[in-house]
Amino acid sequence: MCGIFAYLNYLVEKDRRYIVDTLLTGLSRLEYRGYDSAGIAIDGDEEGQVLIHKQVGKVHALRKKINEDKSLDFTKTFVSHTSMAHTRWATHGQPSERNSHPHRSDPKNEFLVVHNGIITNYKELRTVLEKKGYVFESDTDTECIAKLAKYLFDSQKGNKSLSFTSLTKAVIKELEGAFALILKSTHFPNEVVATRRGSPLLIGVKTAKKLKVDFVDVEFGMSETQDKLAEDGENLLTPADPTHPKIRRSQSRAFLSEDGMPQPIEYFLASDPSAIVEHTKRVLYLEDDDIAHINEGELHIHRLRREDGISAIRSIQTLEMEIAEIMKGSFDHFMQKEIYEQPESVVNTMRGRVNFDNHTVTLGGLKAYLSTIRRCRRIVFVACGTSFHSCIATRAIFEELTEIPVSVELASDFLDRRTPIFRDDVCVFVSQSGETADTILALRYCLERGALCVGITNTVGSSISRETHCGVHINAGPEIGVASTKAYTSQFIALVMMALQLSEDRISMADRRRVIIDELHELPRHIKETLALDKELQQLARDVLHKEKSLLIMGRGAQNATCLEGALKIKEVSYMHSEGILAGELKHGPLALIDENMPVILIMTRDSLYPKVQSALQQVTARKGAPIIICNKEDQGISDQYRTIRVPSTTDALQGIITVIPLQLLSYHLAVLNGVDVDFPRNLAKSVTVE
Ligand code: F6R
Repeated sequence: MCGIFAYLNYLVEKDRRYIVDTLLTGLSRLEYRGYDSAGIAIDGDEEGQVLIHKQVGKVHALRKKINEDKSLDFTKTFVSHTSMAHTRWATHGQPSERNSHPHRSDPKNEFLVVHNGIITNYKELRTVLEKKGYVFESDTDTECIAKLAKYLFDSQKGNKSLSFTSLTKAVIKELEGAFALILKSTHFPNEVVATRRGSPLLIGVKTAKKLKVDFVDVEFGMSETQDKLAEDGENLLTPADPTHPKIRRSQSRAFLSEDGMPQPIEYFLASDPSAIVEHTKRVLYLEDDDIAHINEGELHIHRLRREDGISAIRSIQTLEMEIAEIMKGSFDHFMQKEIYEQPESVVNTMRGRVNFDNHTVTLGGLKAYLSTIRRCRRIVFVACGTSFHSCIATRAIFEELTEIPVSVELASDFLDRRTPIFRDDVCVFVSQSGETADTILALRYCLERGALCVGITNTVGSSISRETHCGVHINAGPEIGVASTKAYTSQFIALVMMALQLSEDRISMADRRRVIIDELHELPRHIKETLALDKELQQLARDVLHKEKSLLIMGRGAQNATCLEGALKIKEVSYMHSEGILAGELKHGPLALIDENMPVILIMTRDSLYPKVQSALQQVTARKGAPIIICNKEDQGISDQYRTIRVPSTTDALQGIITVIPLQLLSYHLAVLNGVDVDFPRNLAKSVTVE
């Protein structure tokens, strides 16, 4: 899991300072995807020369190293230039300079590659290439791509018609696993090829003039050169596929100005729009097995092979995101900013969907599928981490309102068990990024079995939103901090809205629906009031908890998910061990941990299970435990002997949105006190695009 970025200027004069800054800023926007090392490749002073700079650590370390490099003339200008960059999260090989990207084919940098994903057959490829004399310089899976490109290129030496696209097609035919790749080569100066399979990649287009076309027709099939490559089985690692359709060129439009002449143009390629939006809002998302070729300012999209169901048009979309949305503003960290954004982000999730006057909910993305969902045999929620917790949090209200059985699955375990899925199941995939590999694989597994697949994501254009039959965007805005906060509360609301809409034909549920919708209206106010507890929570973190080794968070019913989510937040950002415990399970084991030294937070809000949580409180205090209690602000039934965190009351189905906020804030303060890089906790990445 990594971030990749490339910048190309054609007939637009830019100096090296601008090019390097563009690359490094692009990388810093993608740092949430991985940040253990970074690297860039830019053109040198001589024709055909490429310079590579790499550094272990975050992007600012690479920036420092480049700025200190006296050999670089930053004033040198380039009318046309291609460059690329990478920020890494180690999967194969330790974080080190030799393992960081770009990776090269040879010391002359004939082929360079940046890659996000995992090549699962890299060992086999490496063995074959090593036998052919290639000397590997890193422990990564990526390096075999650059070496393979050179091997295939050399095997066609003398073939004047070999294009960068044909070569890339031949390369990716050999690759198994997931990838988003950008390739640059000294043999194809001023050209870049980008392709993806399973990992995200998009292209931003910036021109001064109007474009002649706002879409690109996709070219199917293999070019003549590749036919030749494929037929020349000896030179390829695997023999040619005899069944491969050899469809000749269809029309492939490129970016020309209205008068049909080449025009000044800049391209920004990235794993994510947050690295592009400050340059241009006009973007084109690549599909799996698209091969984008940029040459002489023109963009062409080719397909590896013809498949029915893949659109032959890639249109340019306009991003809705503002640069301000991805900046920290006055906050110290993105996580803090995102916690504080929740009064607005929850409104954005509901905007245009909840009618508070009529007490109705309309999720446009589900409209056409409502009757199918209502008739299904069961609903299966599939997600990971925080997204999984949002499913746990809403399962009860979903079942109550819809009367459809709901199961909640962790994507990895769901796949490990090869869970039986049937055509009359509805599977709901919840993911902030929409790019989590485990969740995507579970989605594909369910698609194969004919289930209706629904996506709930925060990322428009993500793999999950594109591959599901229908879905809901939670519209929480970009979440940059690795720890998910505002996405959780928005996922929670999106799932409740879905249950409300599905149950609109149930008269018996009308009162319940009305109460929930009224309380949805009050949520922003309640969240603001809860955020006002920030100072109190900072004090609690400083005075009571931050030196502790462990923290147990207990509750039951609707609050079980809050306990799990609170504990996850605390461990991932503060590195303190924390466990969410279902209070009903206390006596079946966890009670053994309780004594006067074990810090405990108990969530005890006024719902139907209140008496049962009271009994858990007694069990804890009887073992000399002194829990801190999160309770409703007006609850007079809690003795003064306990330290309390008093939160506003709402209906039971939504109370978890309120009770999670003190735990988000607490985890944030514990992280700051422990000196953790809050937005980039060690060993984690925002978007987990590997299994
Ligand atoms: C925790 C966190 C992770 C993600 C998980 C799934 O704060 O962010 O547990 O929730 O990796 O990611 P998405 O929701 O992008 O599928």
